[in-house]
Amino acid sequence: MDRTNRLYNDLAWIWPIWGSVEEYRPESEDAARYFREFSKIEPKILLDITCGGGKNDFTLKKHFEVTGLDLSEEMLDNARKLNPECTYIQGDMRDFDLGREFDAVYINDGIAYITTEADLGRTFLNACKHLRPGGVMITIAENYKGNFKQNETKVFNSISEEPLITYIENNFDPDPLDTTYETTFVYLIREAGKLRIEHDLHTCGIFPIETWRKKLKAAGFEIHERDEVYEGQSYRTFICVKPI
Ligand SMILES: C[S@@+](CC[C@H](N)C(=O)[O-])C[C@H]1O[C@@H](n2cnc3c(N)ncnc32)[C@H](O)[C@@H]1O
Repeated sequence: MDRTNRLYNDLAWIWPIWGSVEEYRPESEDAARYFREFSKIEPKILLDITCGGGKNDFTLKKHFEVTGLDLSEEMLDNARKLNPECTYIQGDMRDFDLGREFDAVYINDGIAYITTEADLGRTFLNACKHLRPGGVMITIAENYKGNFKQNETKVFNSISEEPLITYIENNFDPDPLDTTYETTFVYLIREAGKLRIEHDLHTCGIFPIETWRKKLKAAGFEIHERDEVYEGQSYRTFICVKPI
């Protein structure tokens, strides 16, 4: 059995009980505020690239008309259930082509799955292509060279008690000289009095902040940066304006 990215495939049913949509509200409200503050056009229609199960969209849809895009059909099904009023489309952030522009583009935690500098550049160029001149693209660097905590382990519980899932998440970088690190998840799933243990391996990208700046500027953006802390974890937010 393939043990990679199971959270977005056979174990995608876990996502809705992973944490509440309320946990995504502060970062989504901050993004909505930045879109308004930095846009040179009125932001009405938003594209959420790597929308996953639609937890950010649950807040964003109060401010914008939202279209979400994700690689995983299983995650898109979660998003459709949570936000039936939004539009959801399957695609790869590196090369999708919707043939239209949006007023605002958001790439949140899914950007962590970009593992090469070339793909980071392609993704930002593609995001820029789907953005109207004067619009804003927001993306977030969670782990980057300089802030990565080697062998960090987090443990948390699902919001449901039946099934009750204990999530163990470990970040490890076997080769700090390359652009990837590993996130390993172990899920303790207790259901109907039985314990089942699953594991899941994710390969994520890690780049110096200067690489993010270089690729965003090369894609044509003017960039602004903010440091945010959500639930004890710090994030670098890039607010990127497409010049008119
Ligand atoms: C942590 S989840 C996003 C959760 C989302 N922010 C939410 O509100 O529910 C990361 C997502 O990135 C998606 N993803 C990974 N690589 C991708 C790619 N190349 N193109 C599009 N989506 C991708 C995964 O399928 C997954 O749904």
